[in-house]
Amino acid sequence: MRIAEVKNSREQRIAAHSHIKGLGLRDDGYAEPIASGFVGQEQAREACGIVVDLIKSKKMSGRALLFAGAPGTGKTAIALAISQELGPKVPFCPMVGSEVFSSEIKKTEVLMENFRRAIGLRIKETKEVYEGEITELTPEETENPLGGYGKTISHVLIGLKTVKGTKQLKLDPSIYESIQKEKVTVGDVIYIEANTGAVKRVGRSDAYATEFDLEAEEYVPLPKGEVHKKKELIQDVTLHDLDVANARPQGGQDVMSMMGQFMKPKKTEITDKLRKEINKVVNKYIDQGIAELVPGVLFIDEVHMLDIECFTYLNRALESTLSPIVVFATNRGMCSIRGTEDIISPHGIPVDLLDRLLIIRTLPYTLEEIRVIITIRAKTEGLTVQDDALNHLADVGLKTSLRYAIQLLAPANIMAKINGRDEIFKGDVEEAGDLFLDSKRSAKIVTEENRGFIV
Ligand SMILES: Nc1ncnc2c1ncn2[C@@H]1O[C@H](COP(=O)(O)OP(=O)(O)O)[C@@H](O)[C@H]1O
Ligand SMILES: [Mg+2]
Repeated sequence: MRIAEVKNSREQRIAAHSHIKGLGLRDDGYAEPIASGFVGQEQAREACGIVVDLIKSKKMSGRALLFAGAPGTGKTAIALAISQELGPKVPFCPMVGSEVFSSEIKKTEVLMENFRRAIGLRIKETKEVYEGEITELTPEETENPLGGYGKTISHVLIGLKTVKGTKQLKLDPSIYESIQKEKVTVGDVIYIEANTGAVKRVGRSDAYATEFDLEAEEYVPLPKGEVHKKKELIQDVTLHDLDVANARPQGGQDVMSMMGQFMKPKKTEITDKLRKEINKVVNKYIDQGIAELVPGVLFIDEVHMLDIECFTYLNRALESTLSPIVVFATNRGMCSIRGTEDIISPHGIPVDLLDRLLIIRTLPYTLEEIRVIITIRAKTEGLTVQDDALNHLADVGLKTSLRYAIQLLAPANIMAKINGRDEIFKGDVEEAGDLFLDSKRSAKIVTEENRGFIV
């Protein structure tokens, strides 16, 4: 029998920005030339460090940033680094400008939804709970009252133990379902909310820790205090989570809910009215100190793809009290604003919106910077590259684009493999470059020898 250890799947997948781990700033706010996977682009990174501080001190909501720079200068990478600096509790919602164009949903609706995905709410609640390690779990069955076959569960007996004492509870069958959903067994530490009956598994009691060494489990100590007590629970949700949760149809005992078992449950629409209601409740919670607003980051890449309707909407949305920090990125210079009769504007963004933005430029990289970035990428992808080949790749990166040079790594590796090597030579890179054109060469071919292409 072979036993393979499953590695953390995050490490296995290599995406375009896997090597980026943060902004790589020192404590005094200055950028290390090479840190956290980031190379160069110091000014932009330092500017982003200030933005991160502003966001953390909640002084940035309703404002917006724009990254402007040529393709492959690290705009998306920096936006990602901002989200990493903010930590996992702050929502980060990335989208591309063209996502708003859908035949089914209104453009402003798409924007609104993403806005709400980027606004977090931390809810602190003191709840009455039953908490403890499960000592017994016995479903009690009865004959099905409707006749027919099989038995139904009438109630569940559950024993909970804490440091201070034990309690036996008799629970509703509906709670048994959530117990099964959480895959709870004897020896687990759980809590049950007294009002809603929601069951949450905290982990496995550490009394069982020596039982299976191989198990990837989180062991928790036996809870202190009584079984029945008040407990402060912290929940992180986004406004969009609240919208969705409240838009779900509540099933009643009518014909439609019977049908619902056969048809896919239809999602009710999230209406403006529903959102207003939710905002009202949220604002009330904030006033009462139950909830805290956590404005996150909405990243809109390729912002020049938005049209004038969207921009007008954004102007208004940014002024709302419930607004995230919006980060735009574009690689366009002067171009016409979509949806207008050729109004030319910088980055294709109307001047009134442009006026609200803090603009951060990303500059092209030097040969040496490109070389270091490619070295980091090769390491992330687990490739060995000869110095010769690296220098050549850096040259290619300078002449074409950084992204193209990074993308050549994988095919060059295949060339090396074909030639029976584990190390990438300069020749492999050249061969790969002959097979895959960069955008400039490709553009040259289509403009020079138009034959064969449909124009
Ligand atoms: N300064 C940098 N340090 C390390 N990697 C970088 C840097 N800038 C860009 N990259 C990497 O180069 C590639 C292209 O950058 P990307 O952020 O997608 O560019 P843009 O969004 O500006 O077109 C990505 O794989 C990115 O992670
Ligand atoms: Mg990008």
